Amino acid sequence: MCVGLGAVATTFIAGVLAVRKGISSPIGSVTQMGTIRLGKRTEGRSPLVKDFVPLAGLNDIVFGGWDIFEDNCYESAKHAGVLEKDLLEQIRPELEAIKPWKAVFDRQYVKRLDGPNVKKGKNKRDLAEQLREDIRTFKKEHNLSRLVMIWCGSTEIFLTETPAHQSIEAFEKGMEENDPSIPSSMIYTYAALMEGVPYANGAPNLSVDVPAMMDLAHKNQVPITGKDFKTGQTLIKTVIAPGLKARLLGVQGWYSTNILGNRDGEVLDDPESFKTKEESKKSVLDYILQPDLTKKAGTTSTSSAGSVIRCS
Ligand SMILES: NC(=O)c1ccc[n+]([C@@H]2O[C@H](COP(=O)([O-])OP(=O)(O)OC[C@H]3O[C@@H](n4cnc5c(N)ncnc54)[C@H](O)[C@@H]3O)[C@@H](O)[C@H]2O)c1
Repeated sequence: MCVGLGAVATTFIAGVLAVRKGISSPIGSVTQMGTIRLGKRTEGRSPLVKDFVPLAGLNDIVFGGWDIFEDNCYESAKHAGVLEKDLLEQIRPELEAIKPWKAVFDRQYVKRLDGPNVKKGKNKRDLAEQLREDIRTFKKEHNLSRLVMIWCGSTEIFLTETPAHQSIEAFEKGMEENDPSIPSSMIYTYAALMEGVPYANGAPNLSVDVPAMMDLAHKNQVPITGKDFKTGQTLIKTVIAPGLKARLLGVQGWYSTNILGNRDGEVLDDPESFKTKEESKKSVLDYILQPDLTKKAGTTSTSSAGSVIRCS
């Protein structure tokens, strides 16, 4: 289940469908192409991860998801413009069959976005219950044994921990009182964890990084993971930065930009959403480069559209 059926989610879904049809290879998929070394290197035992670990096969996966827009996955993938039209046409019926469920959404947390496909409820807890119902219905309709929820939705405004995040009880009370420190993403997280569904956070949102969610995950024995996907510009940063750091070269500036230019870019034009992204991206480089080491040359740390880091 994907929360948000935009560029990332539809590219992922279309990719799996194309591989299933034999018209694409699973490039970039650790589970499908990766191997795992067993024993010593000299033993030459390196089975494919998918043969070694009991993972669901690509043919066994069923996709579903929520979005504030009513576009089905074909329309949304076309709009995102990531994949070629020819490829999308070959999997069009399968993509068209995936239609978004009504979302839990509040513009307060994503200022540059608005759409019609949104749930109504008497408070945030009621909305969480509606999401739980969606999860149960999806599971039943497709006779599924295991579910995973991945946040592929927009980056929300920058939030920090408040008393409502400190325990499961405080969080539930907070939802009943429509506490403003509980954004839409946390309502999805709560619903997933209550249903025993693992939750992966693909945005830099606070979502699972608060005691209430961690306690709930422990209590229900459900895995939680993630902080932004770290698959695009951040992946490249984390490849290049260790090389620069190893030679203590220091970095004068680091500029990166969203070339996809999709709704994600529009959302991140709002300074409050951008701050969430910036804090997460900046911390990656700060952690790797240790700017204090080369500080004497005059450290500044600045940011503008995209992300700029000056560490020496
Ligand atoms: N594009 C990338 O390469 C990349 C890389 C790393 C992380 N991310 C992060 O992944 C997320 C998705 O990126 P994208 O490029 O697919 O963006 P996108 O704007 O194309 O898609 C996001 C979708 O989420 C929907 N949405 C927003 N809030 C929602 C809610 N509360 N409930 C349901 N749907 C909601 C939007 O309507 C939109 O369709 C963003 O947070 C982005 O910052 C993207």
